[in-house]
Amino acid sequence: MKTIGVLTSGGDAPGMNAAIRAVVRTGIYNQVRILGIKQGYNGLINGNIEEMNLSSVADIIHRGGTILRTARCDEFATDDGLNKALNIIEVFNIDGLIVLGGDGSFKGAKTLSDKGIPTIGIPCTIDNDMGYTDYTIGFYTAVETVVDAISKIRDTSSSHGRANIVEVMGRHCGDIALYAGLAGGAESIIVPEENTDIDAVCRKLIQGRNRGKLHSIIVLSEGVGNAYEMAKEIEEKTSAETRVTILGHIQRGGTPTSFDRIMASQMGYRAVELLLEGKAGRAVGVRQNQIIDLDFDEALSQKRVFRKDMYEIARILSI
Ligand code: F6P
Repeated sequence: MKTIGVLTSGGDAPGMNAAIRAVVRTGIYNQVRILGIKQGYNGLINGNIEEMNLSSVADIIHRGGTILRTARCDEFATDDGLNKALNIIEVFNIDGLIVLGGDGSFKGAKTLSDKGIPTIGIPCTIDNDMGYTDYTIGFYTAVETVVDAISKIRDTSSSHGRANIVEVMGRHCGDIALYAGLAGGAESIIVPEENTDIDAVCRKLIQGRNRGKLHSIIVLSEGVGNAYEMAKEIEEKTSAETRVTILGHIQRGGTPTSFDRIMASQMGYRAVELLLEGKAGRAVGVRQNQIIDLDFDEALSQKRVFRKDMYEIARILSI
């Protein structure tokens, strides 16, 4: 293995830079040339590629975003796009590839792996929606951002005696809402994995108000209804003035937490190690605090299990 390419794909996630740094430094330590592929699979299709050295990854471990830039690339899903990528891989003498991204990016990595390109995936997405790994890089940073926002919103919520809906990202996965809601002491958490009865949310709000509670924080996963319509319904049913905050892309940026940096460093290191061991077509992950790797098919087929136990704890603690 003389040359390894590395790319970041899909939505960015804090900690991607720490993982790139780990890949580059581990590669160079092992006398492997590392090529940085820019803007995800686009860079692989059009040859937007640069050799990286130790200094290319200096001063990035603490930075959000990705120095390689990222994209969601539709062309790569076509035969023409795939063939262009395979050609570039040959032209640049890329012997192995490391893909940092979520499940969509891993599907692309698997396609290349099926075509005989030794490929390893590192899970990077704030959504934490990949079933085979306990955590994805970026998730805990997003949770910290949401918890920080909840604390600030709670201040003004108490001052005004209002209810506040805080809408968070996560696509089809309620983990950001669940973890941030539990850590932020939210009164209600609404996620796609559990049916929500708005009347129950309203009853909780009224009960809290009756015992002198001044604030009410409702954490809502994106896609589970419309936050503004929900606010209107809550206002009508409880007469509590209700405001909406949609946190949006603020959750995707910022300095990665230590946990994300530590995972990124370990996973980046392991990804290079796997290629050097001659292993390919594997997804790196973490389970019970151990770095693991699984075949892409197996990793992609594992459905995320929702932490009902945590959801129940959050419900009980917010009475
Ligand atoms: O997958 C990460 C994510 O931030 C989701 O939580 C969100 O639904 C989506 O990406 C937003 O995508 P975009 O950055 O394209 O608006």
